[in-house]
Amino acid sequence: MTPTLETRLYEAVARVRTHWRGSRLIDGLEPGVDGTRALLDVARIYRANRLEIGRMRPLLGRAVAGLFFDPSLRTHTSMEVATGRCGGHFVYLQGGEATWKMEFDEGVVMNGNTAEHVKEAAPVLSSYADVLAVRAFPRTHNRDETVIRAFSRYAGAPLINLESALAHPCQGLADQLTMADLGGGNSFQGKKICLTWAPHPKPLPQAVPLSVVRAAILGGADLHVAAPVGFDLDAEEMDRVAGFAADTGAKLTLTRNQAEATKGALVVYAKGWAAEDRDAHAALAAEHGNWTVGDEAMRTATAFLHCLPVRRNVIVTDSVLDGPKSRVIPQAANREPVQAAVLLSWLL
Ligand code: CP
Repeated sequence: MTPTLETRLYEAVARVRTHWRGSRLIDGLEPGVDGTRALLDVARIYRANRLEIGRMRPLLGRAVAGLFFDPSLRTHTSMEVATGRCGGHFVYLQGGEATWKMEFDEGVVMNGNTAEHVKEAAPVLSSYADVLAVRAFPRTHNRDETVIRAFSRYAGAPLINLESALAHPCQGLADQLTMADLGGGNSFQGKKICLTWAPHPKPLPQAVPLSVVRAAILGGADLHVAAPVGFDLDAEEMDRVAGFAADTGAKLTLTRNQAEATKGALVVYAKGWAAEDRDAHAALAAEHGNWTVGDEAMRTATAFLHCLPVRRNVIVTDSVLDGPKSRVIPQAANREPVQAAVLLSWLL
């Protein structure tokens, strides 16, 4: 007898739980190799059956509080839709604007403009919501991950990082799902994936590029990371994720040559990030204007990806973004199923 959708969903969630018992998704490595594969299986079941799962209302009575210290189009919408479609309730909170301005440092005399400490805010929100989800990506390179680490320390509820200085784990999961789709099945094992730096006027955090690296290594890719001198990714984070390559068969090549990195790639993933010398970022980024991804870079590649929002004709040309190799819309659409998979795996 063919198992019902409900049985398949519960069994897939149970497989996630055998590999991942944690209640924190901070850098995206927490579920491990097998837990991540199991999560992506749940996401595929959700994606193929979301209306029917919506009718099942598996998260009825559950609540997710989403606290956003920074703007969002995709992350906010996809989290709210995933929660609502599963029958749960999503509360949107704008950090520091419609909520009290929050303090994160210890031992502070709070007689300035911060009105509430995270030590109270995180447990209070945890008393209402079954899951907290927080977005805070500081404009400076913040190795300490001050905001998300403070929430992790003081929140009793499970916690999802919706993008911090060093990680965007939900984007990483959606990227894995998208790359596996492009790989022609449930995997992109051994496929060439190119992550290329591209010019951007602002010194952006490394959350997305590091999450692409984590996604590619967890998926066992032949990953080529191309960046000009002065734009290397965080060495400590790169070393940490490289430790997973032995388990997945992934290969990692760092290069200054964008043309070589893009040649024959299944995916060319473009992203701007800050120069190591942030004060020199604008000048250095302008110097490397020829790193904009155009038709020549895509000539022998299969697909173009970017997390969005993207600056047209700065990161990538109109002709690539509007052309047949661009997969940025299905990539963004994959945010909903992977986030639903995380919620279902924690709350079902
Ligand atoms: N990719 C992404 O996280 O988009 P938003 O910043 O719009 O949420």
